[in-house]
Amino acid sequence: MTSASCSTTSSASSTLPAPPDAPAGYADVLVGLQYGDEGKAKIIDVLATEYDVIARFNGGANAGHTIDTPLGRIALKQMPSGVFHPHAALYIGSGCALNPWKLADEITQLREMGVELDGRLHISARAAIVQPHHIALDRRGSAAIGTTGNGIGPCYADRALRVRNEARVNFMLGDLLDNEAETVGAMRQVLTGMINADGGTSPWVAEMSDLLLRLPDVMTLLRPHVEIDRNWLTRRVKCGARVLFEGAQSVLLDVVDGSQPYVTSSHTVPAYAYVGGDLSPKYHRRTIGVAKAIMSRVGRGPFPSELGGERSAKYCREAAEKHIGIEHEHERFCADTLLRSNDAFEVGAALRMLTGEYGTGTGRPRRIGMLDLAQLREVVKAHGVDRLYLNKVDCLAHYLQSSYQGVPMRVHRDVLPSEHIPDVLIYPGLTERSLAYGREGHLDAGLGGFIDFVERHIGTPLAGIGLGPERASMLLLDGAKPTVPSCAVVPQVTNHG
Ligand code: IMP
Repeated sequence: MTSASCSTTSSASSTLPAPPDAPAGYADVLVGLQYGDEGKAKIIDVLATEYDVIARFNGGANAGHTIDTPLGRIALKQMPSGVFHPHAALYIGSGCALNPWKLADEITQLREMGVELDGRLHISARAAIVQPHHIALDRRGSAAIGTTGNGIGPCYADRALRVRNEARVNFMLGDLLDNEAETVGAMRQVLTGMINADGGTSPWVAEMSDLLLRLPDVMTLLRPHVEIDRNWLTRRVKCGARVLFEGAQSVLLDVVDGSQPYVTSSHTVPAYAYVGGDLSPKYHRRTIGVAKAIMSRVGRGPFPSELGGERSAKYCREAAEKHIGIEHEHERFCADTLLRSNDAFEVGAALRMLTGEYGTGTGRPRRIGMLDLAQLREVVKAHGVDRLYLNKVDCLAHYLQSSYQGVPMRVHRDVLPSEHIPDVLIYPGLTERSLAYGREGHLDAGLGGFIDFVERHIGTPLAGIGLGPERASMLLLDGAKPTVPSCAVVPQVTNHG
């Protein structure tokens, strides 16, 4: 394709000359504003019809969402959300850390479900490859931070290191395209060095060696999707394409902006979309944030509004180590009793059980916190968030049964009229009746008051609130008149932790 041609459809293979006066498209960036797992994929599902390309710009198989389709459940980690919206082209940018084996599995599963990816999925040739030794290193060192063990940190570290002991350690997808045998050989050399250093006794030796053996087959599957044109997305936008960048992880886990060392290893802030997503920032239109009303965090690190504070963090850390998860908690505890406790740690545990806050893949309990509007206000300001979707608002109604007798929220001192007012306020009006009314598209004083309260405290408008797990329960706040999204062919989406 030449720079003067445009594709009329998302299928990149068909091209037409660009109309001379074709207006350029634009890009929006959607990011999570808390600690991950805010339900970004669900919002992308709602918005996908408004975009021509959905693009990833950071992270790799450490992210993920599970989608229920009429053909069964599929867990996707690297495929951009929106894969079930056939009109949308999909792009994986150079800022991603690519696990080729897992991506090939996703492609195979999607094909078996009849999802067409030919001409639709484009992966930057400059995306870094997660190599077997990265996965082994991450598993060995994961406990200190509680990483997902997908090799993401070591992969980005090697990308910056470039050469170790005079041998290249960073490889990109394009290297496999250009010289597969040499690249696989170089990867094997690093892995062998690590195996020898460990005396050949590591439990992962066979698994990692097998990954390298399988790499040529995996590349046969990926090769047609590798995009060597660094301007692929730019050309699409120049021809009018509307792009939605989809952030993996969330801004509080950014490698620089988050709290070191309890962060992921890539940039998760929206500005990075234009580096890792291979597009000029001049096409930026707006920044969309996604947050969750029942806050949660997996892994270690600060969490100012955590219910039960250090006790909760310790409990969840030990639970993850002992593989105690959802079933164990439901066998041992009664959520309704815990909810009525005066102990914030027990209220947090009850909310976890009642709202399903467990890692989807691992089942490990997530740490639970009250909605932190003070933190959201700072994030909104720092990253210029134009509008925000708040998921799981319906789950806040559980608080009415607790000793809080309303929804406790941490608020910013800047918004309080006096320093004598506590920085946790209780909103009493969010009743089941208000929520039921909201699901029908109406705002009563209870729900309307909640929306006003949140908007005032975070300093940006709410674009939608989640009032239930189904897509139709997303109440879109388009100006004053709320709308409920129409039901299209939309699979159910839940996020990983
Ligand atoms: P890594 O990204 O696997 O290196 O893990 C670093 C930190 O980020 C750990 O605390 C992980 O639990 C967290 N993390 C990474 N990916 C996600 C995600 O998709 N959701 C929530 N937390 C994540």
